[in-house]
Amino acid sequence: MTRHAYVIGAPIGHSLSPYMHNAAFAACGIDAAFESVEVRPAGLERWVTNARASDVLGFNVTVPHKETIIPILDRIDDEAARAGAVNTVIVGSGGQGLIGANTDIVGFRRSLKLEAGATLRDQAIVLLGAGGAARAIAVVALEDEARSLVVANRHIERAQRLLADLANVRHRTAIHAVDIRDVVLVGALHEATVVVNATSVGLQSSDMPVDLDSLSPDALVVDIVYNPPRTAFLRAAERRGARVLGGLGMLVYQAAASFERWTGVAPPISTMRAAAEGVLRGA
Ligand code: ATR
Repeated sequence: MTRHAYVIGAPIGHSLSPYMHNAAFAACGIDAAFESVEVRPAGLERWVTNARASDVLGFNVTVPHKETIIPILDRIDDEAARAGAVNTVIVGSGGQGLIGANTDIVGFRRSLKLEAGATLRDQAIVLLGAGGAARAIAVVALEDEARSLVVANRHIERAQRLLADLANVRHRTAIHAVDIRDVVLVGALHEATVVVNATSVGLQSSDMPVDLDSLSPDALVVDIVYNPPRTAFLRAAERRGARVLGGLGMLVYQAAASFERWTGVAPPISTMRAAAEGVLRGA
């Protein structure tokens, strides 16, 4: 029996997940197929109910469902609970139901470690954005004992809610929420040792979420946007002399962790990355 896995969201047309997962299924000799499905908020509950089937391994969840799917699931694991966001659902066998997980957390941590040789320990972090991806990165900051975390968002209430929801993570990090247009961010960017763009600004455009005029040249700047691979934000950071890291690694490592949760098999990372890079190059 061919098994199935999916990514659901709206819009979903740009997703690289089918390419990465189908390449990994083939490389591992697993009889399974991965598809992207456009699911709008009004259709989420019905789609999730239908996913409780023996031929479904699980599915990824993306914009705009990472937070709203939680009450529809049977349970969520500890990491998803800490983030208040789910990007991976495992269809458990033997009546275990639908289990929500968050592999963005491990995806971000691994990309930072393996591609930039960095951790968030003792870092002064500016995190731009307060959506599902930002929630996972904030968990990494607190778990890995960052010195400080400033969450800057266009709608400040969302940044405040993100930080309030992190009350269940034990930490020693100084945390603040600011409006992304607030001048205090200029000072925070000057002090920052790590800046992460977790907004969608820069996706297939040359827009930047904030100016980097005050950025320290000693900072590491990460953009979770992976298309284009070198965003305008990363190019501006490089002009300031900062080190940069693009978002493809986080995408690949979260996908690999999801694959392992669904199949019990650790997939070949290089195969998944090559599949994603091939699509981005227009191959
Ligand atoms: P994801 O799951 O990828 O994090 P999301 O939950 O839709 O996606 O979050 C997108 C993030 O990009 C949010 O922080 C959003 O800001 P708001 O919460 O204020 O909407 C941010 N964002 C999107 N477009 C933006 C823009 N033009 N300027 C500033 N921030 C923007």
